[in-house]
Amino acid sequence: TMEIQIAPSILSADFCNLERDLDRISNADLVHVDVMDHHFVPNLTIGEPVVKRICEVTDLPVDVHLMIDDPDRWAPEFAKLGAKSVTFHMGATHAPVRLARQLHDMGVEACFAVRPAEPVEPIFDILEEFDTILIMTVEPGFGGQKFLGNQMDKVRRLRDEITRRGLSTKIQVDGGVSAKTAPIVAAAGANVLVAGSAVYGAEDPAQAIDDIREAAAA
Ligand code: DX5
Ligand code: ZN
Repeated sequence: TMEIQIAPSILSADFCNLERDLDRISNADLVHVDVMDHHFVPNLTIGEPVVKRICEVTDLPVDVHLMIDDPDRWAPEFAKLGAKSVTFHMGATHAPVRLARQLHDMGVEACFAVRPAEPVEPIFDILEEFDTILIMTVEPGFGGQKFLGNQMDKVRRLRDEITRRGLSTKIQVDGGVSAKTAPIVAAAGANVLVAGSAVYGAEDPAQAIDDIREAAAA
C-alpha cells in the first residue's frame, strides 16, 4: 500500500501562538501553510515574513499553499524562504511549466492545484513537471468547510493516469479531511492529506494526526 503523508494546516492554529501550535504537530509529515491575498480568495492570511519564521522554527518540511493572484511573480519569493514545496493554482498562473521549472531550479518541489470546478485532465499533458497535484476538496479560502466527495472521481482519474504512466507524482487533497473522510480520499488514491480543523480543532492535535493516519491506512 501507498505511503500516506499527513500535513496539518496551520490556518486553524492560533496565529498568536504559532510556535506552540507547531510544536503540537511534531508527529506530522509536513506543515501546510495557507497564503491568501484577498484577491484569489476572499480571505487574507500571512505573507513572506511569517512564512520565513515558520520555516525557521519548525523541524517539519514546510508546504506553502499559495491562494494568491500572480503566483508567476510571487511563488519564487516564497520558495526562497526555506519551504520544501510551493503550491500554486491553475486558476491563477499563466505559465505553470515555466514556474514549476523555476521552483525546481531553486531546489523546491512544485505542486499544481485545481479548484472543485476545474478539470484535472489539462494537467495530464504537463504531469511530469510536478511533484504533486493538489485536488481541492472545498472551495479554497476558509477552514472548516464541508468535504466535497464529488471530487473523488477526479482523484481516481489522476491516480489511474499516474499509475498508467509509471510516475511517482503525489496526489494531495485539501479541505474537509478528517478521520471520517481520510479512508475515502485514501481509497480514491490520494497520498498527501491536508487537515486543518480536524487537527487543531481537536483537544490533542498529535492524537488527531495519528487518528487520521490510522483511518487512511485502514
Ligand atoms: C482552505 C485551505 C485549507 C484549510 C483546510 O482554503 O487551503 O488548507 O486549512 O481546512 P479544513 O481541513 O478545516 O477543511
Ligand atoms: Zn491549503
